[in-house]
Amino acid sequence: MKKLFIKTYGCQMNVYDSDRMADALAPSGYEATTDIDQADLVVLNTCHIREKAAEKVYSELGRLRIMRQKREQAGGKMMIGIAGCVAQAEGEEIVRRAPVVDLVFGPQSYHKLPELVERAHKGRVVETDFSAEDKFEHLPKPARETTIARGLTSFLTVQEGCDKFCTFCVVPYTRGAEVSRPVAQILGEAENLVDAGVKEITLLGQNVNAYHGEGKGGETQGLAQLLYRLSEIKGLDRLRYTTSHPRDMDDALINAHRDLEMLMPYLHLPVQSGSDTILKSMNRQHTAEEYLRVLERMREARPDIALSGDFIVGFPGETDEDFEATMKIVRDVEYAQAYSFKYSTRPGTPGAQMDNQVPEEVKSERLQRLQELLNHQQTEFNKSRIGSTMRVLFEKTGRDPGQIVGRSPYLQPVQVDADPSHIGTIQDVFVESVGKFSLFGKIVTN
Ligand code: 5AD
Ligand code: SF4
Repeated sequence: MKKLFIKTYGCQMNVYDSDRMADALAPSGYEATTDIDQADLVVLNTCHIREKAAEKVYSELGRLRIMRQKREQAGGKMMIGIAGCVAQAEGEEIVRRAPVVDLVFGPQSYHKLPELVERAHKGRVVETDFSAEDKFEHLPKPARETTIARGLTSFLTVQEGCDKFCTFCVVPYTRGAEVSRPVAQILGEAENLVDAGVKEITLLGQNVNAYHGEGKGGETQGLAQLLYRLSEIKGLDRLRYTTSHPRDMDDALINAHRDLEMLMPYLHLPVQSGSDTILKSMNRQHTAEEYLRVLERMREARPDIALSGDFIVGFPGETDEDFEATMKIVRDVEYAQAYSFKYSTRPGTPGAQMDNQVPEEVKSERLQRLQELLNHQQTEFNKSRIGSTMRVLFEKTGRDPGQIVGRSPYLQPVQVDADPSHIGTIQDVFVESVGKFSLFGKIVTN
């Protein structure tokens, strides 16, 4: 068996894709390893969303170059591949900057990996075309034991790419136009996962709630219809989806939250900024008020819903007043958790050409204030669970003996002292205390 080491950067879709790469290479005799020293093939699955993420690749390549030199001195070999969004965005540029790379391939070529690796043995390969064929049709199904080893929760990509063109974002360029997988293909994959013991599936897409896949009769189905279909799979306990755009939260999807108990009451709905001027300049196509109205409708449909979000500070032209509007919307919404970033200029996006770029110190100061507020809200949200009973899906043993760990509907890690036989089941847990990130409690026995 040859050994494959994949290092994953960035979003959940990259996590999903890394498993697909491993699946694609399994028939060629590659087995995944977590020990890079053993690897015949090292793949960096990269992220291009912010400059820092993209730069990580080059510093990692510096380390890999030394590692490979040592390997060669010892008479061994190691192939190096770059996948993901940096591969897609920078292609040839990567091999110019880092000649140690043997193979560069974008997210739409993962099904061709065996052939690409074969070719890379003879000479360098760069493959970044958006292929016309359906990658998912051609990706092999993982062995049942492989899926079992991957655990009780799983990601499932239902939609890729984005047509929204927010002016800060590289995704429409790296992942291409929106494409939705057909309903039957998704149901088939979900059934295989559940058959291997998966209890919770998170549907993924860069714009997941813009999903519009082909149904059995050739008709178009939205995310809500897909969720209803998935909810019928016996043995599946929980559904989630991410990431959504406020513009695509339609009535059908909001109603699905009302109707489907198994659709977890936790929604990641990025607003990016609370200022209408900035939202317009970001081409978000909604106002702060419209965003708040969506949340109001969501809360009516599912009163126990909690929110997560993304924010960018220091977008070009952001004034103190604009930033205060962001602080205000955060106070109004009260997030359970959120990610926040300093604006990073990305080559090729409209934002990079805008005047009034915000100085780095101003961005840092704003980010710090925003993160303080968001951290405070997260702590408050966790504390508010003390004394309540929550359904927890137990996934694994904890660090301390006798402890098992699971996730609440809000993705909070929950630790209890209980028998490992509870792993794989959902139990009612009475929450007694909270730590920095985890909740602690005991299983309620009826
Ligand atoms: N700079 C900073 N943050 C960005 N994001 C996307 N592009 C940029 C950028 N150029 C953030 C957004 C998005 C999340 C995935 O990353 O908040 O929702
Ligand atoms: Fe990027 Fe905007 Fe598309 Fe999200 S909706 S992937 S932020 S362009």
